[in-house]
Amino acid sequence: MSLLGSVLLLLSIVGGTVSITVQVSPKVLNVTIDQSATLDCNFYTNEPLTNLMVQWTLYPWGSENPVQVFFYQAGVYVVGQHFKDRLNVLSKMGTFMNASISISNMKTTDAGTYTCEVRNLPDIEGTTEASMRVHVFEKPSHPFCGEHGDVATGHLVTLTCHSEKGSPPPVYTWTKLKQGMSQQVTGVTNMNSGVLYIQNISQFEFGTYQCNASNAVGFKICTIELSSEMNHAVIIGAVIGALLCFAFILLLVWFITHHLKKQKYKAAKASETQAVNYKAVPPKDTVPE
Ligand SMILES: *[C@@H]1O[C@H](CO)[C@@H](O)[C@H](O)[C@H]1NC(C)=O
Ligand SMILES: *[C@@H]1O[C@H](CO)[C@@H](O)[C@H](O)[C@H]1NC(C)=O
Ligand SMILES: *[C@@H]1O[C@H](CO)[C@@H](O)[C@H](O)[C@H]1NC(C)=O
Ligand SMILES: *[C@@H]1O[C@H](CO)[C@@H](O)[C@H](O)[C@H]1NC(C)=O
Repeated sequence: MSLLGSVLLLLSIVGGTVSITVQVSPKVLNVTIDQSATLDCNFYTNEPLTNLMVQWTLYPWGSENPVQVFFYQAGVYVVGQHFKDRLNVLSKMGTFMNASISISNMKTTDAGTYTCEVRNLPDIEGTTEASMRVHVFEKPSHPFCGEHGDVATGHLVTLTCHSEKGSPPPVYTWTKLKQGMSQQVTGVTNMNSGVLYIQNISQFEFGTYQCNASNAVGFKICTIELSSEMNHAVIIGAVIGALLCFAFILLLVWFITHHLKKQKYKAAKASETQAVNYKAVPPKDTVPE
């Protein structure tokens, strides 16, 4: 039993009128996603626990609507829909002055303020509830780097970076990589949205950009190449096309000339043989004297 518990018990024994007191521990609980959370709640009361009522309620951050976590009264245990099959009662209700619970497979939607409320009629005076804040952390998922705008000198180019998951929401930083070293970027970064605006881009801004999505429990990076690559591709394509065309023409020309040569050669050969044949028959009137 804690010191406060002992003191309260002592006070009640010496006859002071002690009303109900509820305490939670810890006041702030940090868990990572899929882990379990133990929410301790202890109370002190003078009355027997025959009319005990315990209620755990979650007030999720950024939401107006409370979520029912757990309810106990007159031997009946009710677990809220959102926590079905994930909630354990750590101490038999109505036996000890202990209303502790644990929740397994914590989700990011489980984050918020949990209140433990205890009523034990007719003991209605005092602090009947206490609350704790529960953070659920999740590492950022692998971000996606994107490029928008016309990557040509003088234009506005935006680079985007986004992680689907991560709690608390990741912050994004952009750096430029040069020979493995990080450099500051010329441009304006919105660290919450992950957008980097590069106004009036020049060739000095071309290169490799890295985005770092980070939160309290981790970070992930993605990189993107910023260059007038499209133009290069077009030029390279055109050059290769032209070269191929040229090669084809060359081949064609060679083929034609070769073919023609062959025919000429044949013709020449044919006429030569004929000439020889003529020669083979010496003209009668040119017999040497
Ligand atoms: C829990 O997380 C909060 C928010 O990030 C932080 O301020 C606090 O120091 C953390 N507490 C512990 C005990 O880790
Ligand atoms: C209440 O019960 C839980 C779970 O059994 C235990 O961890 C905790 O120490 C108890 N609290 C007190 C004050 O005994
Ligand atoms: C864009 O940059 C070029 C070269 O640095 C400069 O001459 C031009 O004035 C700039 N244009 C604008 C709108 O800032
Ligand atoms: C990303 O940012 C986090 C938090 O600032 C830092 O610890 C980490 O070293 C960075 N990683 C890289 C690769 O820059």
